[in-house]
Amino acid sequence: MCFTTYCQYSHNVFSIINSVQITEKNAEPEKTLLTYLRRNLGLTGTKLGCAEGGCGACTVMVSKYHPHQNRIIHYAVNACLAPLCSLHHCAVTTVEGIGSMASKLHPVQERIAKAHGSQCGFCTPGIVMSMYALLRNNPQPSMHDVQEAFQGNLCRCTGYRPILEGYRSFTKDGGCCGGKAQSNGCCMTNEHTQEHKLYDQSEFMPLDPTQEIIFPPELMVLSKQPQRELRFAGERVLWIQPCSLEELLELKATYPNAKLVVGNTEVGIEMKFKNLFYPVILAPAYIPELNIIQNTQDGKRVGASVTLTVLGDVLRAAVKKLPAHQTEVFKAVLEQLRWFAGQQIRNVAAVGGNIMTASPISDLNPVFMAASCKLTVMSKGTTFIFPRQSPMISYSIRLQSFYIYIRISYGGMAPVTVLATRMLSGRQWNEELLEEACTSLAEEMSLSPSAPGGMVTYRRTLTISLFYKFFLNVQHKLSLDLLKEGVTVEDVRPEYATATELFQLDSPSSVQLYQAVPPGYSDDVVGQPIMHLSALKQATGEAIYCDDIPCYENELHLALVTSTKAHALIKSIDTSDAMAVPGVVAFISAKDIPGSNMTGPVVYDETVFADDKVTCVGHIVGAIVADTQAHAQRAAKAVKISYEELQPVIVTIQDAIANKSFFQPVRSIERGDVAQGFKDSDHILHGEMHIGGQEQFYLETNCTLAVPRGEDGEMELFVSTQSASKTQALVAKALGVSANRVVCRVKRMGGGFGGKESRSTILSTVVAVAAHTVKRPVRCMLDRDEDMLVTGGRHPFFGHYKVGYMNNGRVMALEVTLYSNAGNSLDLSLALFHMDNSYNIPNIRATGYVCKTNLPSNSAFRGFGGPQGMMIAESWMSDVALSCGLPAEEVRRMNMYKEGDFTPFSQRLDNFTIDRCWEECMQLSDFNKRKDAVEQYNRQHRWTKRGLSIIPTKFGISFTAVFLNQAGALVLVYSDGSVLLTHGGTEMGQGLHTKMVQVASKTLGIPCSKIHITETSTNTVPNTSPTAASASSDLNGMAIYNACQTLLQRLQPYKDKNPKGCWEDWVKAAYFDRVHLSANGFYKTPDLGYDFETNSGRPFNYFSYGVAVSEVEIDCLTGSHKNLHTSIVMDVGKSLNPALDIGQVEGGFMQGLGLFTLEELRYSPDGYLYTRGPGMYKIPAFGDIPIELKVSLLRDAPNEKAIFSSKAVGEPPLFLAASVFYAIKDAITAARAESNLTGPFRLDSPATPERIRNACEDKFTKLVCSNFHC
Ligand SMILES: Cc1cc2nc3c(=O)[nH]c(=O)nc-3n(C[C@H](O)[C@H](O)[C@H](O)COP(=O)(O)OP(=O)(O)OC[C@H]3O[C@@H](n4cnc5c(N)ncnc54)[C@H](O)[C@@H]3O)c2cc1C
Ligand code: FES
Ligand code: FES
Repeated sequence: MCFTTYCQYSHNVFSIINSVQITEKNAEPEKTLLTYLRRNLGLTGTKLGCAEGGCGACTVMVSKYHPHQNRIIHYAVNACLAPLCSLHHCAVTTVEGIGSMASKLHPVQERIAKAHGSQCGFCTPGIVMSMYALLRNNPQPSMHDVQEAFQGNLCRCTGYRPILEGYRSFTKDGGCCGGKAQSNGCCMTNEHTQEHKLYDQSEFMPLDPTQEIIFPPELMVLSKQPQRELRFAGERVLWIQPCSLEELLELKATYPNAKLVVGNTEVGIEMKFKNLFYPVILAPAYIPELNIIQNTQDGKRVGASVTLTVLGDVLRAAVKKLPAHQTEVFKAVLEQLRWFAGQQIRNVAAVGGNIMTASPISDLNPVFMAASCKLTVMSKGTTFIFPRQSPMISYSIRLQSFYIYIRISYGGMAPVTVLATRMLSGRQWNEELLEEACTSLAEEMSLSPSAPGGMVTYRRTLTISLFYKFFLNVQHKLSLDLLKEGVTVEDVRPEYATATELFQLDSPSSVQLYQAVPPGYSDDVVGQPIMHLSALKQATGEAIYCDDIPCYENELHLALVTSTKAHALIKSIDTSDAMAVPGVVAFISAKDIPGSNMTGPVVYDETVFADDKVTCVGHIVGAIVADTQAHAQRAAKAVKISYEELQPVIVTIQDAIANKSFFQPVRSIERGDVAQGFKDSDHILHGEMHIGGQEQFYLETNCTLAVPRGEDGEMELFVSTQSASKTQALVAKALGVSANRVVCRVKRMGGGFGGKESRSTILSTVVAVAAHTVKRPVRCMLDRDEDMLVTGGRHPFFGHYKVGYMNNGRVMALEVTLYSNAGNSLDLSLALFHMDNSYNIPNIRATGYVCKTNLPSNSAFRGFGGPQGMMIAESWMSDVALSCGLPAEEVRRMNMYKEGDFTPFSQRLDNFTIDRCWEECMQLSDFNKRKDAVEQYNRQHRWTKRGLSIIPTKFGISFTAVFLNQAGALVLVYSDGSVLLTHGGTEMGQGLHTKMVQVASKTLGIPCSKIHITETSTNTVPNTSPTAASASSDLNGMAIYNACQTLLQRLQPYKDKNPKGCWEDWVKAAYFDRVHLSANGFYKTPDLGYDFETNSGRPFNYFSYGVAVSEVEIDCLTGSHKNLHTSIVMDVGKSLNPALDIGQVEGGFMQGLGLFTLEELRYSPDGYLYTRGPGMYKIPAFGDIPIELKVSLLRDAPNEKAIFSSKAVGEPPLFLAASVFYAIKDAITAARAESNLTGPFRLDSPATPERIRNACEDKFTKLVCSNFHC
């Protein structure tokens, strides 16, 4: 379609952004506000995390005058979905607009930083803006309001607790421990806790709402003027904003294929991810008739452009005002809205948009349908009302005596919302009706076994379980209502009562305990809870991430072309359509590589670009380079590749076992006499467990900027990577130059978690090859869906085991086989060293297979095979306890290692502290009392059950590849006394640079403020190991210490000469005396090396230990669960920085919680990943943290094997979230007991609602199974 005729009508978009007037003459309808802020205005504080409204990293505040409400409204929006054209006459406030380091911080920025709520900081600006928007509307919110404001924000690092704690200070709840403080001032204070504050709340600046930026008066004037139709014509799309319903209908008649867009929360997704294209867009957001909610005789009439937030406000007010029986539907809508996306989405998404999307999983349509709501549909000259016959009712159930007429509708059971047609209306509400209704629903609500979305048995069971909940609800209401009229109806049995309650989360509370630096050592910065050194910059948006680096003038953007087949030969590649897209410069592929196309972190068993064969969906085949990212991505989608498909396509571990597709060598470890162990055992059991994979979901996706330097083959790379040296080496290999021509620079990452250890190198190499080819700087930041598709994640595992054990639960022998799904290359695949977890099994044989499959190569992720191995250990431990009928905690305790014991890989356990952690955790959690309460609760409740579990962890610290256990540092002292520190580690949010500054500060005896780290780079410290294996503080800390010692020795003569002088005096004196004031430091971990052949040597320098207790509550009818309590005691040695260490414990724990209870990667049988963004792949959110969380760092546990007696902390705590999984299993055990099911049962990880519901076998699951033979 040609727009030359429209162009003459194109208007300017006029907005005010951070108090600056912006007139955009050529507003591009396809451009989002986010792209405009970042690329056109250079406001890079607002981040891109997902581009689909699911992570909140792009949150900004929009303010506008609402003519229909005659007031100014402020609301948080996702800039990644907001079309620039929708912001005409709006004011936009970004994180840069509310405060800065240079001018003045806003209290919202200050508090998140000082409360240690910012680790990598990539989520921080979005969270800051959500909080800011809340405070603009409500300067003294409740904790509930705060939690609601964060429903649309994700953080992958912090575990959320510190953010909520920091912002609690703004709330009216305030106070200690979630406002639950008792008279003694702290609800948690007791004899064995000594709480020290991680920050001082009294230092916080006060919030002064009168100081906020006012709504620009010029916008107010403009907004009040009569509106006229607006047209914005872009490269391919025309955007028209009519101002009356009549105009809209006229336009729709003129452009029948035009797409209506209000919030763009559906259309934006379709255009970005489903490759749909709408040349004409009509935006009815400002049409008065579509923006009002009118009261009618039947209820309320809601305009199609009314946003969900406005709808919620109006319905809440009506519920308060009207009699209860008139507001049942309103309450149902409000309940649905509680679960509907985050606030940023609800603030812009419209009711009409939700109805017209007609999604099978729409949240509102089932309620509208069940309530017989009428839908008015208009076109020019015509109006239809659906359904015509039934009147709109404002309550869902009409009572006649206690005979009931019901309409039941379901989402998620068909391509559209469906109504149960066979319902038994006009019947008495009793058990007989319940039984018939369940049978009828079981028959009617059927799904084919291959229905899209899977979970067929679960969805069928849910239809009945939800009806049952509804039945109980009605029964309860009937008993109350009819009692008033003198009719007695039996109420719901007390033990069933919780099935009628809504799922509510209490406000969280927490305690952190650590050993404070003793009095008299207050100058010692090591051990102090110092704030992350970048936290304030992160909170103001001033921290620079890779994609925030300003664009070079001649810079190009790169988009990947990836395989859509899992195993195939490439027959041809047609780039003609792609090259015709405006701005496209080149298509890059294997033939453009001047050096070697083979790559890989350890063995070179994969390609940079697929040559003639692809081995997974997402295999990189080529790349398009163009003037903008939009053009590059559009062209990449236009590249046509034809394939010849190959067999077999191996996707799962089971496929690999069937095809014997394993990487070599197959490793095994054996100790003791396994055959004899089984003979000596009273019993033997067999079991299996599958543990799903996990996406790292660092908030900042992979990003590289490659800049050719134009001479001698030099290339400079700015990369978001944990492995600067590996990136350098692999890029040099591909470019065919030596490593000394390539510099890799890393300022910081927006999270890594192992995912940027090896997988990032492939993208960097592709970008470098492209930059080399076009001889211009090239940048690529992957979109979330590409990142998830291309980079792989944590290995899925499958284990089967045979355990011999005594009547008292003592395990005598174990044979375990572990399979991990490595994907299409070996990358970094490990298994066996953690299969014992913390248990001493006298006779053990373990074998580990690394499966080669047609999935993108899996890789490192926090814990790296360890959590999976330990999880399977806990599975057989749980089976043994259930078989013996003994409390699981007794069986675990009895089998636990002791000081001086040997692991299966023959390493002696010295300074073993799990037993101390265990005892302290039992106390901290009040385990015994809690257990009694759980048992009592379970006796009193049939449909909700509670479970409790205590789980230990032992985690080996070191790279198992011995050569990686080395580190270097460079310390430069300038003549003014300032110190520039460089070391081999990278900063990904874990606070490594902060800890390293603390180490240098203590060693040199100078304040942290004199020391600066600017970046990690391969031209300052060579041959660095990846920042991984939790060992970076140990390794780099020692290297820094050694460098500082060298400098101190050189300065000693000047100290001796001038003992009363200060650091600057000694430095100056040394300088004038021509002393070398730069020193290298180096460290290698001693005595490492393990030999699988002889089962001898030491794979680890030492072990980190911890124990956690968790309590959960499950809803047996839906499978959902609440995390009620977690206590953690973690041995981190003598903490270098308790605030950072507690941050790592909580963040790691929450990632483990995701791994074991929430996160599920779903693939099609032919290897296509369905879950490619936060919409489909759920990581823990604010609402998932334990309602009560206590974290204690073990006291008096110095570790002589690491810098200043500290211990590694990054990976070890992750596994402690297994306590939540086994608490869920405990609760399911209680539910199964109600159906007389006892003994071991298989529960795979993650314990999703589907798995929990299916495991809680009852009459409803049986009904579904008997109907459908499952
Ligand atoms: C992160 C995220 C989370 C979400 N969560 C949920 C959820 O929990 N539950 C849920 O049900 N949905 C959810 N959605 C889907 C979506 O937000 C809703 O369907 C929303 O109500 C759509 O409204 P909108 O104004 O943004 O629609 P748009 O994207 O603007 O339009 C959607 C469709 O409606 C049509 N349309 C819009 N207005 C009109 C009109 N006046 N007349 C005729 N047709 C019209 C459009 O042409 C288009 O086909 C989510 C979306 C995102 C991005
Ligand atoms: S980037 Fe906008 S919500 Fe994730
Ligand atoms: S600090 Fe929240 S994602 Fe890293």
